[in-house]
Amino acid sequence: MSPTSDIYDVLVIGGGPGGYAAALYGASAGLSVAVVEKEKVGGTCLHRGCVPAKEFLETAAVFRTMSGASEFGISASEPKIDFSVSQARKQKVVDQLWKGLSGLMKSRKIETIEGVGKYVGNGRVEVSDGRILEGQNVILASGSVPRSIPGFDIDGKIVMTSDEVLSLEFLPSSVAVIGGGAIGCEFASMMADLGAKVTVLEALPQILTGVDKDIADVVLRSFRKRGINVHSGVAVSGHTPNPDSSGTTVHFGDQQSISVEAVIVSVGRRPNSEGLLGEGSAVEIDRRGYITTDPYMRTTEQGVYAVGDLVATAQLAHVGFAEAIVAIKHILGEPIAPVEYSKVPWCIYCHPEVAFAGLTEEAARAAGLDVVVKKDPFGGNSRARIIGETDGLVKVVAEKLPNGSAGRILGVHLVGPWVTEQLGQGYLAVNWEATPDEISQFIQPHPTLSEAFGETVLALTGRGLHVG
Ligand code: NAI
Repeated sequence: MSPTSDIYDVLVIGGGPGGYAAALYGASAGLSVAVVEKEKVGGTCLHRGCVPAKEFLETAAVFRTMSGASEFGISASEPKIDFSVSQARKQKVVDQLWKGLSGLMKSRKIETIEGVGKYVGNGRVEVSDGRILEGQNVILASGSVPRSIPGFDIDGKIVMTSDEVLSLEFLPSSVAVIGGGAIGCEFASMMADLGAKVTVLEALPQILTGVDKDIADVVLRSFRKRGINVHSGVAVSGHTPNPDSSGTTVHFGDQQSISVEAVIVSVGRRPNSEGLLGEGSAVEIDRRGYITTDPYMRTTEQGVYAVGDLVATAQLAHVGFAEAIVAIKHILGEPIAPVEYSKVPWCIYCHPEVAFAGLTEEAARAAGLDVVVKKDPFGGNSRARIIGETDGLVKVVAEKLPNGSAGRILGVHLVGPWVTEQLGQGYLAVNWEATPDEISQFIQPHPTLSEAFGETVLALTGRGLHVG
């Protein structure tokens, strides 16, 4: 189809990471593409999620650096925060990226159609203004929205989700964070570093479920050291707002309670699929609201794909990108390997940061694998000492060969300074199923934080330099 035709090669519902990646990748391959978007392209990630949250976490990092300046012999007055300025800076960063993305889409001749899209079958999408668009292929990418829990109605003042927290003009003095997952830990870390009294209430036995226990324990210790109260294994039963609306008392566990100015509910996100499918659609949706797909992101209706948070896979922007590329390559009829979900990179930007790819030690053992494990704490790393950030470690899990030596690398787990920027080589190792013998031949620059990975892998060959 030519770009001027009424029927697009690819019609996308939703302009978040899944949708815009499909559009950009498809347009670069010469396909005519339109995206139906009800708000601004960029989606949750750019406007209400990853980007603004990380920008605030950087504000927290600046605050920490200033608080610790005297250790370096630099005198500065006690840092104070004007959160409205932080909010304005965050918005500037988001707006710049949004303009960049919009411009890029325009330059690739991707048509952005404003409105709510509903898939009504046979390649047709009904827009809220009544227009009917048609695509040879349709990609559903309407994303996800925050979940809440009974008894916690979101009012945006006392009870908030990530949507509201990221638009705050002031910082509450005390906060209860319900849910100690990625979002909960990022907010808890950011708010505590900026001076709020933070309590995390997590239903499961540990925070950051799914993260290797040794890694999650480092975060827990750091949180406690910084005054964050973490209660895990507790059920939250409700809350009683103060009569003067100045805050609320949250009830949890065995008749425990805590009075706070604000509550952040971060108990997961649900697919944004309500009203997405019309009568004529043959796309299957499961009882939790996720769209059913095969490994090529095909739904149960031919020519219709679904990607991103709408699908029951890891809710990560970069997984949305990867799924979008799979869908477009499938549309193009090119050879394509499906996303290997067990090996995707995970990055959590709380302080200290967490990054990993592949199997945790527990998961590898639970899968019946015999493993060899080596760890290198950042305490012995020169660069970590130089920057004064020694909380953290590198942990590499490898398959144990019959002769007892380490074979293919199964998982790389990092916690500590800037580890989200250090995961690259660990990710490659896991996905290439490389062995310690192979990787240890590569030279690691010294002094760097990332050489801790090389040290750990060298130790797995049985001949470590600094790690035994
Ligand atoms: P999550 O599923 O990661 O964590 C939610 C936590 O809330 C779980 O630990 C769960 O046990 C707990 N929980 C559920 N109900 C509860 C209750 N009634 N009381 C106490 N605790 C309760 O969800 P989260 O953190 O909201 O993130 C949503 C999605 O966004 C996740 O899939 C996450 O991976 C993704 N995300 C990833 C980020 C990253 O990789 N940096 C950052 C932010 C989000």
